[in-house]
Amino acid sequence: METTHLQEKRVLIKKPSSMPKNWWKQNRFFNHFFNSLSLLLPVGELFFIKSMKLNQESIKCLDLKKSVKHFIYQETKHFQEHDLWFNRNLKESGYSVDRLIYPFKVFMELGNKYLSPRFALALTVASEHLTTILARHILRDVKWLEGVSFEYKKIWYYHALEELEHKSVAFNLYKEIDGPFWLRAYSFIQVSMVFLIVIFQLMFCFLWSDKSNVSLKFFKELLCFSAHLIKSSPLFFKSYFYYFRPSFHPNDEDDSELVAVYREKVKTFCF
Ligand SMILES: [Fe+2]
Ligand SMILES: [Fe+2]
Repeated sequence: METTHLQEKRVLIKKPSSMPKNWWKQNRFFNHFFNSLSLLLPVGELFFIKSMKLNQESIKCLDLKKSVKHFIYQETKHFQEHDLWFNRNLKESGYSVDRLIYPFKVFMELGNKYLSPRFALALTVASEHLTTILARHILRDVKWLEGVSFEYKKIWYYHALEELEHKSVAFNLYKEIDGPFWLRAYSFIQVSMVFLIVIFQLMFCFLWSDKSNVSLKFFKELLCFSAHLIKSSPLFFKSYFYYFRPSFHPNDEDDSELVAVYREKVKTFCF
């Protein structure tokens, strides 16, 4: 069993007391893409933690037991950083954060209540692959956070780094419980569809709340965001479709260099 070396960090981010509405300067689409991601992630993370806890009884390998414990620790910290700071600031900026995320919250709570532990874990494995791809893009391609000052970049760097650090833990647990390939593949399709629907619906709601004027600037920003999505898509889809190989393992794509670089960077604001 391949194990992951995880680091427990207490986040010591000196955060500003408030966050401007347009923290991603000059492009409302990037701004609301990350705002939507920040609303969605904590709800997902609670689901991931519960699914890991439901399955951890079956773990025989000690290293995996330890990795699962670290995974739960890291996701709990992410939940706190996004929910208690980032999303609280969005709320203070005037967005009806609770109302926007409520339908997705109910959907995930129903999942937690009625899905079998194995299916819930398959959904977590799938979500972890999606967050791994996003994290890799955010850390590799500076354009994603180009319009952001360092004080707001920190939370995304730290989160993306830890997503790469624990990318194989849920998968290894799924292997340990002999989860079938078909359920893993099916779950990935389901997670992708829900992710796309929720993220674009949230982005639309944020734009609507801003009462954005459909001006030349609006279209320029949309064009810039869309062009970046298209530019990123070959690498995105390469990793995306890789998941459907029966022999897939998250560690097949080597992120060790990226992890090493960002561990150094993140050290300056975490301990
Ligand atoms: Fe996370
Ligand atoms: Fe994660």
